[in-house]
Amino acid sequence: MTMKAVLWRPMYDPGGHDLLRAAGIEPVVVDSPDAEQVKAALGNANALWVRTPERVTADIMDAAPGLTVISTSGFGTDNIDIPAATERGILVVNHLGFGRTPVAEHTVMLLLACLKQLTWGDRAARDGSAWSQRQGLQVYELEGRTVGIVGLGYIGSELAKKLRLAFNCRVLAFDPYVNARLALVTGAEMCPDLHAMLGQCDALAMAAELTDETRNMISTAELAALPEGAVVVNAARGQLIDLNALDAALTSGHIRAAGLDVVFPEPLPADHALLKNPKVIFTPHTAGVTQEASKALAISAAEQITTALKGDLPPFPLNPEVWDSPQSRRPR
Ligand SMILES: NC(=O)c1ccc[n+]([C@@H]2O[C@H](COP(=O)([O-])OP(=O)(O)OC[C@H]3O[C@@H](n4cnc5c(N)ncnc54)[C@H](O)[C@@H]3O)[C@@H](O)[C@H]2O)c1
Repeated sequence: MTMKAVLWRPMYDPGGHDLLRAAGIEPVVVDSPDAEQVKAALGNANALWVRTPERVTADIMDAAPGLTVISTSGFGTDNIDIPAATERGILVVNHLGFGRTPVAEHTVMLLLACLKQLTWGDRAARDGSAWSQRQGLQVYELEGRTVGIVGLGYIGSELAKKLRLAFNCRVLAFDPYVNARLALVTGAEMCPDLHAMLGQCDALAMAAELTDETRNMISTAELAALPEGAVVVNAARGQLIDLNALDAALTSGHIRAAGLDVVFPEPLPADHALLKNPKVIFTPHTAGVTQEASKALAISAAEQITTALKGDLPPFPLNPEVWDSPQSRRPR
């Protein structure tokens, strides 16, 4: 019998839909924010894949008595009520490590763009003003600079490697939870004290996960601890940096420039001061959505759903305890 996977929004790459079909699982796309439409589709579904920011609540799960597995679209899990899924015996999976290459590359791009005033150059070359303003322009090299990385996971460690090997940077890292062996192979110098690290950085790059501990971890005091003229980039999560403090530090001139792929909220309100600050280079949370990563994420989701519907435990379960629990919906 054909099984059914509801896809709340299409997957990032149609290859995921094809893989599901090849495994005998019919993908049914609900391309609407309307939870009622999703509930109607879920009646006889075996799996649900959900794209951020759509939210899977207990109420939605209750419309799906045959649901075995819910898959996120990426790493983030805050749009799924995991305790509610666990209570109902539904397995939840996410996808780890797919940001490593694209987000590390993007972070290097933001660093270079800040040091070389990329967006100013683009605008000024187009309107012709560049030619009278070029004299006295301050652009810098990344080569040999000291870069501090906050968070040395998949992305932070790849970034450390790229900065050391391609740009001969001195790389410092703050991550109280990192595996010591991983830190050693990246060649980053681990710093147990964030403020002591900041004092040595020409550039600060954020690569930590968002937790209660990391929310707003870079605020007025941390920005002040950076040397004058430092640049700050963030392609991790917007809430890691206090954006009002960043705007003030840029306006005072203490921070030279900032490169932000992520902000909070997304999008920023149209009248937010940072949007008017010419020292900020923005990208719209696109660091992780390369064609390559999109395809890999869709394949990972299709494979994990297929594995779960065969009754096997997929590689990245968030609540593995449900699999052998009395309420488990595991196919046997
Ligand atoms: N912009 C994008 O498109 C995009 C795409 C993928 C991932 N991300 C974000 O990038 C970040 C890193 O992702 P990852 O795949 O490397 O995740 P990861 O889990 O491999 O790494 C996160 C690291 O943060 C560290 N950390 C936790 N608490 C910390 C603290 N208090 N101080 C310093 N470090 C701390 C962890 O120990 C871990 O090493 C995450 O915030 C993720 O959401 C962004």
